[in-house]
Amino acid sequence: MSTETTKRGGFGGKLAAILAAAGSAIGLGNIWRFPYITSENGGGAFIIIYLGCILLLGLPLLIAEFAVGHNSKCNPIDAFAKIRKGWGWLGAMGLISVFLIMGYYFVISGWTINYTIASATDSIGGDYGGFFTTFTTDIWKPLIFTVAFILLNHFIIIGGVQGGIEKASKIMMPLLFAILVVLAVYSLWLPEGREALGNVFTPDFSKVTGKTFLDAMGQAFFTLSVGMGAMLIYGSYFKEGTKIAGTAISVVTLDTLVAIIAAVIIFSAGVENESGMQLAFVAMPKVFAAMPLGNVWSMLFFLLLGLAALSSTISMHEAVTSYFVEKRGMTRTMGATIVTLGAILLASAASLSLGAWNEYRVAGMNLFALLDNFTAIVMLPLLGILTSVFVGWIWKRSDAKAELTAQGGVDKATYPVIYFLLRYVCPVLVSTVFVFGIIDFIKSL
Ligand code: PFF
Repeated sequence: MSTETTKRGGFGGKLAAILAAAGSAIGLGNIWRFPYITSENGGGAFIIIYLGCILLLGLPLLIAEFAVGHNSKCNPIDAFAKIRKGWGWLGAMGLISVFLIMGYYFVISGWTINYTIASATDSIGGDYGGFFTTFTTDIWKPLIFTVAFILLNHFIIIGGVQGGIEKASKIMMPLLFAILVVLAVYSLWLPEGREALGNVFTPDFSKVTGKTFLDAMGQAFFTLSVGMGAMLIYGSYFKEGTKIAGTAISVVTLDTLVAIIAAVIIFSAGVENESGMQLAFVAMPKVFAAMPLGNVWSMLFFLLLGLAALSSTISMHEAVTSYFVEKRGMTRTMGATIVTLGAILLASAASLSLGAWNEYRVAGMNLFALLDNFTAIVMLPLLGILTSVFVGWIWKRSDAKAELTAQGGVDKATYPVIYFLLRYVCPVLVSTVFVFGIIDFIKSL
């Protein structure tokens, strides 16, 4: 290992790389977002389109992002600039996006702490919608939990790549999988669960519209954390010998499995018609309350959501922290402190925008909704297009090939397929869906 790598820190081995990257991928996107987008868009029909997006766009982009990180062993801004001078802005664009995502993601993450505690102490009460609205529109309560969640991230990040991120991932991910399996087995054990399930997964192509494709693509990018520097920075920490393609395939497989199992749990509870935040925070506690040992199931569910969120937010925090450490020459603690403070400011404003500051709106949206929509509809597709253009057209062809085949573990026969997807399919498909999506979105305002 070179001294440079030693100084930067890195993952101890292949398993650590898979668990950390799967931790980044598996998050609120899988457990909270995937189930309700699926039910809104025709169940099984959406899943088929979504799987297409994952395979044709998400997987190649994930491989591309790992490759850029692994090849350059730098923070996202330097990584692009090192491969092609003048392209550092692409890394900066990713970091700005991930920071904006942190703004609302931390707020929801904070709620999971309150809900885990309230479930354990059986204090949600009978009015689930009322509990949610009173809590989320309050000034201080959600703020305190959001800040607590950000501080949790802070302490993991200052622990370093191996001592913090790797260690946390090795504890959190097995726990997350275990809770998921327990909840899934329980929900399938209930006869009404099995029945509800059949109904929801049956494809209903009549619900498929142009927007379905946009939703499927956006979800694929969001769930795999691609384009925003988080996977890039993790790729830069891969130990020599960690294969990029194999790791990406493991991450995509785990991520997809978790999303489908989460959908099974939620649909079997018969709450698929609820949408958005209401689904996880209002409908689920209500369903659990009707079951024997309801609090325990509810607590496990919110703990699952919190763990998934935490393993994702540390990758966001790390991507931005790495910029301050490597590009601004700060110590890790100092860099992390700046990111933590910035995140506290933005997330506090987003949290307040649901209550006290709800009247301040841009294009009809409060800050919380604005951060979510702007990143999902504008930034994610743009980053997807630009990252694929970078690897498919800008990166010197022989260098990209060497990185992907020799180090990356893509075999010679598969390489042309991945290259073709990155060079032609991703830019064309993502641009098309992007343009139609923007037109649709503007019309809906
Ligand atoms: N992939 C995460 C999820 O599905 O919840 C979200 C995410 C993580 C987005 C890391 C961006 C990121 F950099």
